[in-house]
Amino acid sequence: MNKKVFITGASSGIGEYLAYAYAKNGCFVGLTARREEKLGAVLSQCKSLGGDGKNYIIDVQDADAMQSAIDDFISLPGDVDTIYANAGVGGTDELSSGSATAMNHVLNINILGVTNTVMPFIPHLKAQHHGKIAVISSVASFRGLPHHAAYSGSKAAVRNMCQGWGTALYRYNISVSAICPGFVSSEMTDDKDITQPFKLDTDVAVQKIIRAVEKRKKVFIFPWQMRFLTVPLMRYAPDWLVRKFGM
Ligand SMILES: NC(=O)c1ccc[n+]([C@@H]2O[C@H](COP(=O)([O-])OP(=O)(O)OC[C@H]3O[C@@H](n4cnc5c(N)ncnc54)[C@H](OP(=O)(O)O)[C@@H]3O)[C@@H](O)[C@H]2O)c1
Repeated sequence: MNKKVFITGASSGIGEYLAYAYAKNGCFVGLTARREEKLGAVLSQCKSLGGDGKNYIIDVQDADAMQSAIDDFISLPGDVDTIYANAGVGGTDELSSGSATAMNHVLNINILGVTNTVMPFIPHLKAQHHGKIAVISSVASFRGLPHHAAYSGSKAAVRNMCQGWGTALYRYNISVSAICPGFVSSEMTDDKDITQPFKLDTDVAVQKIIRAVEKRKKVFIFPWQMRFLTVPLMRYAPDWLVRKFGM
């Protein structure tokens, strides 16, 4: 029986290329996103690469819809091998707006979207006594970023939750990986005006992510320049330096 892999945010970027990588290995992929046409094109491509799958057109903020989709995915033949809580959005805090709307949008999708994805799978993974959960956090999770504090805070929150879930679920043979990419080509990083050091092509990034998840790494920060230079700098740099370089 082929492996089943569930991926949120599969209509573009990292999620799309994760779908292709698993499809090439003959996996059955459960794909979610809001844009039906784009997700349809991704699934067609997965099938032409030798995989199979099913699309679920859902907003990750809709807990009931996520629960039904995941129940359906679980009911399909085969064990659930890996779950990617990948869907996410960027965006500024709009600190001068006087409104929490922009921040809450980021927090809802990037945090509640992750819990809505992971939690419905837990009883099933415990029962089958194996499984891998991967949550796409970010290098940005290592510092509260000026004007992107909701984004960096949301990514810190999910990285922290991964640590707790991983510790609790270890005895059920379930691994939880917090994946912390630097810059990766995608719709989110399309903005050519922003400096994006050490940026990786999407397919290259996805191979690194899959390797880390297969090795059941708890936290995976990449590329190496981000792991050894940027993250330590982000953690310990004084505020004035962060302001100067606009990290
Ligand atoms: N690219 C980078 O440099 C980078 C670095 C660090 C972390 N990340 C993280 O990697 C993840 C993937 O991002 P990406 O770079 O691949 O960006 P992307 O190309 O913009 O992909 C984002 C995906 O999330 C989906 N999505 C967004 N809001 C959603 C919602 N409310 N409900 C359901 N799906 C939703 C989008 O699909 P629809 O719009 O069709 O719903 C899309 O498939 C994100 O969590 C991001 O924060 C990216």
